Amino acid sequence: MDMEVESYLRPPEMYMPPYPAKVVTLATGGKLVIRQVTRDAVPTLLQAVKPTLEVPRDFYDIVGARLYAELLGWYRHRVRDEFCLVGQIDGLLVGIVNTRSFSPEVDISLHTLAIERGLRIGAHLFAAKMEYSIEYLGRKEVLITAESPIGFRRWMIEYGLEKREGQHELGGATPFALTRDLYFRSKDRLVAGERPVPADIMKVAEREIMIASEEDILEKILGAKRKVIQ
Ligand SMILES: CC(C)(COP(=O)(O)OP(=O)(O)OC[C@H]1O[C@@H](n2cnc3c(N)ncnc32)[C@H](O)[C@@H]1OP(=O)(O)O)[C@@H](O)C(=O)NCCC(=O)NCCS
Repeated sequence: MDMEVESYLRPPEMYMPPYPAKVVTLATGGKLVIRQVTRDAVPTLLQAVKPTLEVPRDFYDIVGARLYAELLGWYRHRVRDEFCLVGQIDGLLVGIVNTRSFSPEVDISLHTLAIERGLRIGAHLFAAKMEYSIEYLGRKEVLITAESPIGFRRWMIEYGLEKREGQHELGGATPFALTRDLYFRSKDRLVAGERPVPADIMKVAEREIMIASEEDILEKILGAKRKVIQ
C-alpha cells in the first residue's frame, strides 16, 4: 500500500475515551453485555449484518446495507470518528449500534440493529450509545433520525426528541436532537445496566463474538413471517 497516498485518503481521528462495558438484565433474566469494539471486530460483525440485506420487513434491508457500508468504511479508514458498541448474550452477538462524532460538541447517531427481538435489546443498545456520547464523550447533543416506524417510536417518541432544521447525514432525512438536558431527564427511565460486568460474564463476551447462522438470524428477525416471504 502506498502510505503517502493513503495518508491523504484517511480522515483525521479525534481521541475518544473508552466506553466502560455494562450488563443489562433482560426481562427473560438473560444478561446482555454491552461493550465497545475496535476495528478488528468488523469482519466478524459483517457476517451478522449480511443476512439482513435481503429483509425488507421493518426496514432491516436499508438499515443493514447502510450499517454494512459504515462498518466497512470504519474498518478501511474511510469514515471519520466512528464508534461501535455491540450487545452479546452468552457471547452471541444480538445487536449493533454505531455513531459518528461530528465535532467535540455534536455526535451523529448512525444505526441500531437488533438481531434478537422482543426484549428491547435495540432500545438498550441505543440508550448505551447516547450514554457514551453525552456522559463519556461530553457532547452537547446527538443528532438522530429514524428509518423505520419502530425506530421512530423508540427514539423520537420515547425520548421526546427535538425536531431540528436541516438534514441528517443519513440521506438528508429530518434530524432530531437528544440534548444533554433531554438525556438526563430520560436517563432513569431508559438507560439501564450495571458496572462493572462480573468477570466471568465479561470473559465469555470478550473470548469471542459468536455469530448465529444465517438461518437463525433470519428466524430471529422474521419470526413466523419468515415462511410467508420464502
Ligand atoms: C428498531 C430496533 C433496533 C428496535 O429494537 P428493539 O428495541 O429490540 O425492539 P424489537 O425490534 O424487538 O421490537 C419492536 C416491536 O416489535 C415487536 N416485535 C417483537 N418481536 C418481533 C418480531 N420477531 N417481529 C416483529 N416485531 C416484533 C415488539 O414486541 C416491539 O413492540 P413494542 O414496541 O410494543 O415493544 C429493531 O426493531 C431493528 O433492528 N429494526 C430494524 C432496523 C431499524 O429499524 N433500526 C432503527 C433505525 S432508526
